[in-house]
This record gives sequence, structure tokens and C-alpha cells, in this order.
Amino acid sequence: MMSKWILTLIAAVPFTAGLLVLQSCGGEGGPKSGSDGLPGVSAQFLALLSDNQKGAQYIGAEACGNAACHGGASKPGRTADDPIYTHWKETTHATKGVTCERCHGPGSRHQADPEAEGLILTFPKVASPVVCAQCHGPLANQFNLSGHNLLISAPVEEGIQNPAQYGRSSRCITCHSGLVRIEESKGVDVGAMSDDTIRELCEATLTEVPHIANCATCHNPHSKTGNVTDTGEEKQLRKQTFNNDTAPIGPSTTATSFTTYNHICAQCHNGRGADGRDAKLLSGTARPNMHDSNQFNMLMGVENSGAEGSSPPVPRNTAHSEAPGQCSKCHMPDSNHSFKVSYDKSCAPCHTAVDAATRIATTRNDIVDKLLALRTRMSNWSEYAYPGQEGNDIFWEYTSTITAEGYTAPAQGAVPIAIKRARHNYYFVIRSGDYGAHNAPYARYLITVANENIDGLGGGPFKATRAPASNLSFEQKLQILKNDAKRAREIDMRETGEH
Ligand code: HEC
Ligand code: HEC
Ligand code: HEC
Ligand code: HEC
Ligand code: HEC
Ligand code: HEC
Ligand code: HEC
Repeated sequence: MMSKWILTLIAAVPFTAGLLVLQSCGGEGGPKSGSDGLPGVSAQFLALLSDNQKGAQYIGAEACGNAACHGGASKPGRTADDPIYTHWKETTHATKGVTCERCHGPGSRHQADPEAEGLILTFPKVASPVVCAQCHGPLANQFNLSGHNLLISAPVEEGIQNPAQYGRSSRCITCHSGLVRIEESKGVDVGAMSDDTIRELCEATLTEVPHIANCATCHNPHSKTGNVTDTGEEKQLRKQTFNNDTAPIGPSTTATSFTTYNHICAQCHNGRGADGRDAKLLSGTARPNMHDSNQFNMLMGVENSGAEGSSPPVPRNTAHSEAPGQCSKCHMPDSNHSFKVSYDKSCAPCHTAVDAATRIATTRNDIVDKLLALRTRMSNWSEYAYPGQEGNDIFWEYTSTITAEGYTAPAQGAVPIAIKRARHNYYFVIRSGDYGAHNAPYARYLITVANENIDGLGGGPFKATRAPASNLSFEQKLQILKNDAKRAREIDMRETGEH
């Protein structure tokens, strides 16, 4: 350990990034300018450090990995990540000279007084993308374009107001706070957290690291994990990129099961137990029983997450669902962190860029037309079944939607199961948001089942498959569907309960 007088001396030295680099030349493992080719410390990173830490000196990774510190066997109160140093030694970062202190800041003061607060950059602040952006600038710029960089604040605010429900029970914050998700991935389950811990993490998410997913949400900063990319490379991913065991996210699974699913994207992008079976459709009539996040259920055609009827074979295991890397194959071509699809790169070698673009256009038109035709039929039915009542064109809807529009919803016991199945499938397809890109055969199958159900209803003009208005452009048609998705989402947020 360094003696106190050296610390005092260093504290007196004016602190600048330039000086930092010079000072560190004597020590091991600090940010060495030039020789290791790594970019210098950024101003944004320095701004994360406490004033106390700013006076500290670099001590090098070996000192951090001292057996009495982060190189020793696990200690009480430490996580499974200890001994961190041993794991870190095996990473690409270690071979490139990305030491502990490049992410945690200079360590001499922390080394001198390990129990003291504020002498080293720790969680949650160290999980800021600013830390990684020091060296991964271009990639961080891509990430900034993504929705993951943003925050949907409502569920996080709810976590503060009502930690029992939005934290431990519905677990909204495991998918809506990148910080809570880190804790979950490290095995600290939100279900076992105290109200105070949940509130602290949510506060930090609103103020300090305000992202749905930050870099450390998806990457283990210290360790190889064995969860490889579609091309078999180790990128320290916290979860698998490919998983076709759909049992943990199927109907009737618990919130603990689907929010801890071992898939880098489907840990969040799953249907939250979406259930298209009659028992669930009969008991849950207030709002759709799936979330906006059902992309994985759609991709895989997860059994019974749509109302599947009795005309198998149901299309599952499509080429898209079995592609190595699954979501990351299409949404992260060349590791692009904007998560935007590129027809050039994502769809190879299966489609040429032109083929992919043409197919997407054709498929989306087809699915959108079919959804609008289905919607028209449901409207025709409700106008026929509830003649003369104001607002009856949306009486096929869930009760919350109808009441939110200021109308009195019909008794749900009298709404035929056929309509309940049809509206479930309608919402299942629009909420996935890809309009056939993920799994067009399953989307079409669910729409067919919905139509067959309406066919089976007794008499009436609603039975006709009224074609959607042909004078509307694709964008106008899409907007009608998106308005329904938006309306359903607003209702989800307005009401508590089964969401
Ligand atoms: C690439 C950046 C990076 C490097 C290199 C790095 N860390 Fe971390 N460290 C983080 C981040 C981000 C977190 C918070 C997320 C987490 O705990 O997984 C963290 C968390 C920690 C924690 C708290 C863990 C806990 O359970 O609360 C300790 C202790 C730690 N690091 C020590 C080290 C040591 C020692 C080294 C070097 C051997 C090191 N880190 C290298 C980024 C890094
Ligand atoms: C001081 C610079 C620096 C910082 C800070 C840094 N990295 Fe890196 N990182 C690198 C370098 C250099 C490489 C190796 C790149 C190469 O080989 O092309 C790398 C590689 C990686 C890889 C690929 C690993 C592999 O085995 O191929 C991942 C993933 C990664 N970094 C994530 C992160 C994350 C997440 C953070 C923040 C918690 C971070 N890095 C912070 C410099 C840095
Ligand atoms: C921690 C939870 C979480 C993880 C992990 C996650 N997402 Fe997301 N994702 C979200 C949320 C929440 C949104 C909505 C963002 C918004 O509306 O601002 C979203 C939005 C998206 C979007 C819509 C476009 C955009 O950028 O807003 C795409 C595409 C996407 N995610 C793909 C992926 C892929 C691919 C992965 C895996 C590599 C992934 N997501 C991992 C939660 C997550
Ligand atoms: C299994 C993970 C998961 C859970 C649990 C979860 N969400 Fe989400 N949520 C998502 C994802 C992913 C999206 C974005 C989907 C997309 O953009 O296609 C999303 C979207 C949203 C949106 C829409 C944002 C917008 O306007 O675009 C709201 C609001 C929301 N969630 C609130 C909640 C609330 C409240 C809870 C808890 C009752 C909750 N979520 C639980 C994953 C989850
Ligand atoms: C939603 C999850 C997610 C988030 C958030 C995320 N990454 Fe990644 N990252 C991945 C996946 C998945 C891959 C592997 C993609 C592939 O090549 O198939 C990857 C790959 C990488 C690589 C390797 C790039 C290469 O060319 O080999 C680096 C470096 C990296 N990420 C750093 C970061 C940094 C820095 C951030 C924050 C700015 C970040 N990641 C945020 C999921 C994520
Ligand atoms: C076969 C390629 C492919 C696969 C696999 C795939 N996607 Fe997509 N995804 C697309 C395309 C194409 C779109 C249409 C939007 C576009 O053109 O960018 C899309 C749309 C989306 C959207 C809506 C985007 C928005 O802007 O609202 C989300 C969210 C999404 N995908 C997430 C995922 C997730 C999560 C997975 C894995 C469960 C996944 N995707 C798997 C190709 C794919
Ligand atoms: C692993 C191979 C693979 C990848 C990668 C892949 N596809 Fe496909 N795709 C297929 C196969 C196989 C079919 C179905 C067979 C057929 O229709 O010829 C298909 C069908 C489609 C369809 C037609 C669906 C329908 O029935 O209307 C669309 C649209 C599509 N793909 C778009 C894309 C896009 C866009 C990408 C890239 C973002 C992509 N695919 C990536 C293999 C792939």
C-alpha cells in the first residue's frame, strides 16, 4: 500500500487528462499514451470520477489483482465474479492493455482505504456507456441511434412508486432498466430485492445511467462467457445469441422465467407469457395478454402464444428462427449497434439484397392488407351485434379500449369466443411490429385462424371479407394498425393489474 504522504503530494498536483497519462508512465497498466495504441482518457469519463478519486494515482492491474484484493478467492459479500482479476486476465481487453483502471479510474486511494466510499468508480456509474465510449467511439455512436440508448421512463418511475408490483411482481424494471438487468444477469434477482434497493436502482436509472440497455447490460465487462456470436466469436456476452428452447417463455410461464430467459435479446423481447388459449382469453378481457415485446414468440412461433385453432400443421422452425445468431444475425450485421437491419449484410447468404428488399415489400403489403381486412370484419361483426349503439364499430375490442374511448363496453360474457380469438391474434401480429419480416408463415396462419373463427359465427353481413379500402396508401393502412397498437399501449400504462 502507498503511504499517506505520497497521496497528499499527488493530490496537490493539478489534475488534467494530459498529466494523468504522463504520471501513469511510471506505473504498470495505466493508460499509456501511444505505446499500446489505446485512446486516452476522455473528458466525459473524468467527469464521472469523484473529486477524491481525481487525486489518485494509477497502480496497475497486478496491484488490483493482489490475492488480498480482487485476485483472491471469493469472499463473503462478493459476487460470483470474484476473483475478477483472474477472469479479466483471459479477456481480449487484458491482452490489449485495457486494465481495471481504464474503466474504474485510478486506484491508489482506493487501495489505501478499500472500505471507503467514493475512492473508486463503482456500480452503477461505472456502467455508463461513457466508460466504453473512450475506446469504442464509432460503436457507441451507433448505439446512440438505437432505442436502447433511450429510456421509457414510466415503468421505472412505477418501480419507485410501487416496488412490490412493478419490481418484484410484474418485474417491468428488469426489461426497462439496464441497471436492474445487470443485477439480474449477475444472479441478484429482483424478486429478492428490498424496496430500498429497487428504489435506488430505479433512481440511478432515471438520473445516472438512463438507458434501457447500456453496454454492460449485454456484455460482462470482466470475463469471457462462452456465449458466442453467429460466427462463433467470444464477445463477453451475458446471454446466448441462439436459443430454441421456447418452454421458459411460453404461455403460463412465470414472470421470473421469461424475464431471466437465456437469450441476449429475448430476455426482454418476449411476449411475457402471451397465451392464446381459450381459458386465458375468457378470463382476461380487459386488454391483450401480450406485451409490445413479443418479437421472439413471433420469430419462433412459440406454441399457443397465438390462438392456434385446430388446423395444424402450425408453421414453426422456419429458416429465420433457425438462423445462427437469430435476432443478432439480422439486427446486428457486422456487429452494428444501431440494431438496424441491412438487406445487404443481414440477409446473406440466403437472399440477395434485392431479393430481400422485394420480399419484404411484398410480405409487408400482404400482412398489412390481411390485418386491415380482419379488423374490418371484426368491426362489421360488432356493428351487427350491437346495432344502433354509439361507438359500436370498436365493440370487438377489449373493454379498456372501449371505455377509454368513452363508450360502455358490451358484457364480455356475451362476446363470442370466436371474436376473442380473432382480436388476440390481431394484436399478437401488430404488437410484434415487424409485419411479417420475422415469421410471415406464422403471422398468416394466425390471421387465417382468426378469419376461420369469424366464418364460423352465425349469419349476418359481417361474414363478408370486405377488402380494405383500396384508395389508401400502404403508409395510411399501416397507420390505422399502428393507432390500435398505440391505443392498447396507452391503456396498458393507464391501468395497473394484469398488464
Ligand atoms: C471494460 C471495463 C472494465 C474493466 C477492464 C474492469 N471493470 Fe470492473 N466493472 C466494470 C463495470 C461496467 C462494472 C459494473 C457491472 C458489473 O458489475 O458487471 C464493474 C464492476 C466491478 C466490481 C463490482 C462488482 C460487484 O459485484 O459489485 C468490481 C469489484 C470490479 N469491477 C473490479 C474490477 C477489477 C479488479 C478489474 C481488473 C482486474 C476490473 N474491474 C476491470 C467495468 C470494468
Ligand atoms: C481503454 C480502451 C477500452 C475501453 C475503455 C473499453 N474497451 Fe473494449 N476493447 C478495447 C480494445 C482495444 C479491444 C480489442 C479490439 C480489437 O481487437 O479489435 C476491445 C474489445 C472489446 C470486445 C470484444 C472482445 C473480444 O474478445 O473480441 C468487447 C465485447 C468490448 N471490448 C466491450 C467493451 C465494453 C462493454 C466496455 C465498457 C464496459 C469496453 N469494451 C471498454 C478497448 C477498450
Ligand atoms: C434490457 C432489455 C432489452 C434487451 C436486452 C434488448 N432490447 Fe431491444 N428494445 C428494448 C426496449 C424496451 C425497446 C423499445 C425502445 C423504445 O421504444 O425507445 C427496444 C427496441 C428495440 C428495437 C426497435 C428499434 C429501436 O432501436 O428502437 C429493435 C430493432 C430491438 N430492440 C432489437 C433488439 C435486439 C436485436 C436485441 C439483442 C441483441 C435487443 N433488442 C435487446 C429492450 C431490450
Ligand atoms: C420481458 C421484458 C419486459 C417486461 C417484463 C416489461 N416490458 Fe415493457 N417493453 C419491453 C420491450 C422489449 C418493449 C419494446 C418493444 C418494441 O419496441 O417493439 C416494451 C415496450 C413498453 C412500452 C411501450 C413504449 C412505447 O411507447 O413505445 C411501455 C409503455 C412498457 N413497455 C411498459 C411496461 C410496463 C409498465 C411493464 C410492467 C407492468 C413492462 N413494460 C414490462 C419489454 C418488457
Ligand atoms: C442489446 C445488447 C447489446 C448492447 C446494449 C451492446 N452490445 Fe455490444 N454486442 C452485442 C452483441 C449481440 C454482439 C455480437 C454481434 C455480432 O457480431 O454478431 C456485440 C458485439 C460487440 C463488440 C464486438 C465488435 C466486433 O467488431 O467484434 C464490441 C466491441 C461491443 N459489442 C461493445 C459494446 C459497447 C461499447 C456497447 C455500448 C456502447 C455495447 N456493445 C452495447 C450486444 C450488445
Ligand atoms: C430474418 C431477419 C430478422 C430476424 C431473425 C429478426 N428480425 Fe427483427 N426485423 C427484421 C426486419 C426486416 C424488420 C422490419 C423493420 C426494418 O425493415 O428495419 C424487423 C423489425 C423488428 C422490430 C420492429 C422495429 C421497429 O422499428 O419498430 C423489432 C423490435 C425487432 N425486429 C426485433 C427483433 C428481435 C428481438 C428479434 C429476435 C427475437 C428479431 N427482431 C429477429 C428482421 C429480422
Ligand atoms: C438463414 C437464411 C435466411 C436469412 C439470413 C434470411 N432469410 Fe428470409 N427467408 C429464408 C427462407 C428459407 C425463406 C422461405 C423460403 C422461400 O420463401 O423461398 C425466407 C423467406 C423470407 C420472406 C418471405 C416471407 C413470406 O412468406 O412472405 C421475407 C420477406 C424474407 N425472407 C426477408 C428476409 C430479410 C429482409 C432478411 C434479412 C434481414 C432475411 N429474410 C434473412 C431464409 C433466410
